[in-house]
Amino acid sequence: MWHDQRVTKKDRMKLTKQKPCVLWFTGLSGSGKSTIANALEEMLYHNGNFTYLLDGDNIRHGLNKDLGFNESSRIENIRRVGEVAKLFVDSGLLVLTAFISPFIKDRELVKNLFEEGEFLEIFIDTPLETCEKRDPKGLYKKARDGKIKNFTGIDSPYEPPKNAQIHIKNDNISIDEACQKIVDYLIKKKYIQWSNT
Ligand code: ADX
Repeated sequence: MWHDQRVTKKDRMKLTKQKPCVLWFTGLSGSGKSTIANALEEMLYHNGNFTYLLDGDNIRHGLNKDLGFNESSRIENIRRVGEVAKLFVDSGLLVLTAFISPFIKDRELVKNLFEEGEFLEIFIDTPLETCEKRDPKGLYKKARDGKIKNFTGIDSPYEPPKNAQIHIKNDNISIDEACQKIVDYLIKKKYIQWSNT
């Protein structure tokens, strides 16, 4: 049986003066999701917001260390992260998530866990060629050499969002500009108030 809790999300909003939501970053490996999410979290922190960043590489060291990269593992990876993000949103936080989350259906399932306006999809739209050139972890090379299987963009698909709330074309934009675009959206839609001028 589900027990209602006496302290609600609304109560917490009065304390935090922010509207909790999940900022769901999606994009190819090496597209800049983690980098932008980290920089954004820092900006929000300095603005006095309460945040938490869930990052694919880190979550796969703990909660999801039993999961690999075949289709069913990726589905389960995203499902668990969606549930954790939901708890954190309920706790009043602005939750940033940085997962490739390659499949539209899985992102849709996560979105459906949330109330209207709580799930914001942020598409970090960096061309595959750019990600592959950057290859920060050397994984594209390994995938091309056949040493890693099911690598997104190489031998596993990436399905771009059709209606992302925020679309960042990230081949000619600075990290600061990308963050500013997201902050502007959050202010405009009244998720946060900006005090750090
Ligand atoms: S997701 O597809 O299930 O959402 P997630 O974001 O958790 O992926 O993890 C992606 C990270 O795992 C990549 O940035 C990369 O460092 C690493 N990785 C290892 N193997 C793969 C693979 N086959 N495909 C994609 N990323 C991989």
